[in-house]
Amino acid sequence: MNHFTEAAKTWDTDEKAIRNKALADAIKKHLNLVQGSYIDFGCGTGLLSEHFVEKANYLLGVDTTKEMLDAFDKKFEKFDQVESCDKNLETQDFSRLMDHIDAIFSAMAFHHLERPEKVLDKLSKVLNESGKIFVIDLLKEDGSFHPDNAKMGVKHFGFDKDDLISWTDGLELKLSGFEIIFNIHKNGRDYPLFMGIFEK
Ligand SMILES: C[S@@+](CC[C@H](N)C(=O)[O-])C[C@H]1O[C@@H](n2cnc3c(N)ncnc32)[C@H](O)[C@@H]1O
Repeated sequence: MNHFTEAAKTWDTDEKAIRNKALADAIKKHLNLVQGSYIDFGCGTGLLSEHFVEKANYLLGVDTTKEMLDAFDKKFEKFDQVESCDKNLETQDFSRLMDHIDAIFSAMAFHHLERPEKVLDKLSKVLNESGKIFVIDLLKEDGSFHPDNAKMGVKHFGFDKDDLISWTDGLELKLSGFEIIFNIHKNGRDYPLFMGIFEK
């Protein structure tokens, strides 16, 4: 059992809903799609996906915590174009049928990955030639954001722009944008969230 198995039960809060709306607005500024196909990597209960579902002809939520995916499935049960997938891209691949995704977004999941660049590579392989990958996560921090890093599966204390550039080494991807899009106020201080945009 991982930390998120228990956390899934009480994951959705007003604070996270407000945050994910702001993150979605930041992504949408860089998307010019009437309808599109999307992947939400590390989707959790779907707080970010909620803002894309109406304009999705396909939306896939990927996560490794069954309880998060159960909540995701329940949230979108009325939407035929939405599905979820319990897959760990650090150790598994997408199905060969998966292709031509217009936009992939991910919020607060990459710091849980041992090898972010490997997952980025797999995501890039299912992306349209003109598609974009949006990675949103904590800017490099001192390890104080999570109350218990080991227990909560934290593999990185955030990232900086150079980390994201280094992930693209040898990949058919470039970092085309990097901006601070939100601040989480906690422990009496701000933890900025960045959005990195990757394109082919
Ligand atoms: C901090 S939560 C963020 C959830 C959601 N994006 C949000 O902002 O509400 C991190 C999520 O990443 C998922 N996760 C952790 N490792 C993963 C992996 N290797 N592949 C896919 N998802 C993973 C966890 O199960 C969890 O749902």
